[in-house]
Amino acid sequence: MRFLTNKIEDNTSGVIISFIYEDVKTKSDVFNYLDKLSNNELSKQIYEYNIIKGSLGEIFKYSVSKDKKAIIVGLGKKEKLTRQKLSQTIASAARCAKTIIGNKSLAIEIIENNNQCDCNYSNFTKGEFAQIALCAVRIGLYEFDKYLSDKKEQIETIELIDTDLSANVEQGAQIGAYTSFAMKFAKDLINESAQIVTPAYVAGLACEIAKEHKLEAKVLSKNQIKELGMNAFLAVGQGSVNEPKFVHLTYRPQGAIRKKIALIGKGITFDAGGLDIKPAASMLTMKTDMSGAASVLGIIQAIAKLQPEIELHVISALCENMPSGSAYKQGDVLTAKNGKTIEVDNTDAEGRITLADALCYADTLDVDEVIDIATLTGAVIVSLGHNITGVMGNNQKQIDKFIEISKKSGENTWQMPILEEMKDNLKSEIADMKNTGGRNAGTSTAAWFLSNFTKSNSWLHLDIAGTAAPEKSNKETPSGPTGVMIRTLINYLIS
Ligand code: BES
Ligand code: MN
Ligand code: ZN
Repeated sequence: MRFLTNKIEDNTSGVIISFIYEDVKTKSDVFNYLDKLSNNELSKQIYEYNIIKGSLGEIFKYSVSKDKKAIIVGLGKKEKLTRQKLSQTIASAARCAKTIIGNKSLAIEIIENNNQCDCNYSNFTKGEFAQIALCAVRIGLYEFDKYLSDKKEQIETIELIDTDLSANVEQGAQIGAYTSFAMKFAKDLINESAQIVTPAYVAGLACEIAKEHKLEAKVLSKNQIKELGMNAFLAVGQGSVNEPKFVHLTYRPQGAIRKKIALIGKGITFDAGGLDIKPAASMLTMKTDMSGAASVLGIIQAIAKLQPEIELHVISALCENMPSGSAYKQGDVLTAKNGKTIEVDNTDAEGRITLADALCYADTLDVDEVIDIATLTGAVIVSLGHNITGVMGNNQKQIDKFIEISKKSGENTWQMPILEEMKDNLKSEIADMKNTGGRNAGTSTAAWFLSNFTKSNSWLHLDIAGTAAPEKSNKETPSGPTGVMIRTLINYLIS
């Protein structure tokens, strides 16, 4: 997919998306351009015959000339439009454009929103619009058709159009383009079979990424992982014929460094549950248990292109959680890199064990902040469902900043607590802690477990088990991988 920005009259697309509000009747320049092509038929249809009112999500397709079609999209009431609604609406308009046979190029009108009150983050600049729109289009049109014999035609070019193009728009479009690429990259990798996506495969991919983007790459083999004392992580992978790999990529900016951040992605390439094997229905989607790893590998590519003044370490402890004669067992006591001991209560709570060592490793990098993103607990689905990511951490300022940026990025987050009391849930008689307690407060308990393995006082934890790859489609994208939190994390890293 190719992205460009153009002046209205220079557009080369057969399909043009233009927006109308329910409560604002002034016509935009793009609307007027389309109206003129149609000899004012377009405005008659809408404002005289009232074919659509402009309520949120309404779509009206109209041929304005022999070779141009308009897609007029309702945005509802101006003050009520959030960035998320905007993104969802653009995604569905793009899907509508795709149904127009033979069309390879789509133009979208650039708009801005200035309300008196910026309640619910309803305001956006044209640059922010460009960023939101390019992500929305790419994920709206996303399909994993690699294994389909019948491939649908794809839209190849997306054009953002306006009367004038400012530097602000160009910058937003650039961020949007790289962010949307990161999302597509992650979605493709998560969709791919676990048969192919083994720890070694992901490590190989990481090396290719490093080469392409001139990043430092470190891939640790089983023996090197052992030498570094990451024995908790090693135990999780020991039941699989596919050996674990530990991946660490580093992006360093050309000039000054404003901040150093480590970003850890959970990388269980298949979670069968281990000896506490999962029932069939729960195992069905467990190739997606490396969504965190896929996300951070997507993100570092965008960061390498956008070149912010940060040092970024991307880390993943990659392995498979399989039942077998060599698998780790209930009652085993594991020692993590920081010396703390873990009694294995349930082999299916493997993510937190691998993350424990990844967090200890991040502590050796002298970073200012540590962030992990993980499909960690089924419990977060019970609490927050499939559309809200759980946010936890040990630094309220960092959490507040992150949640604010998630709202501006059009993604839903909600803070869950970590309290000292959670310690009681994981009390062990023979080790420093167990890896699981009862069913209660599962998400917070898992986060408390993780907190034992970081020395950072700016550690943020994202539980994306509900949001990474739901079985139902959402308003933006088909069922399966969503690329959740990639937009927010990139905006956070470049902020
Ligand atoms: N990978 C799962 C969590 C998960 C569940 C991700 C559903 C995506 C969708 C994790 O490793 C797991 O199995 N967690 C257990 C922990 C339990 C044994 C305490 C769970 O949530 O059931
Ligand atoms: Mn598990
Ligand atoms: Zn898992």
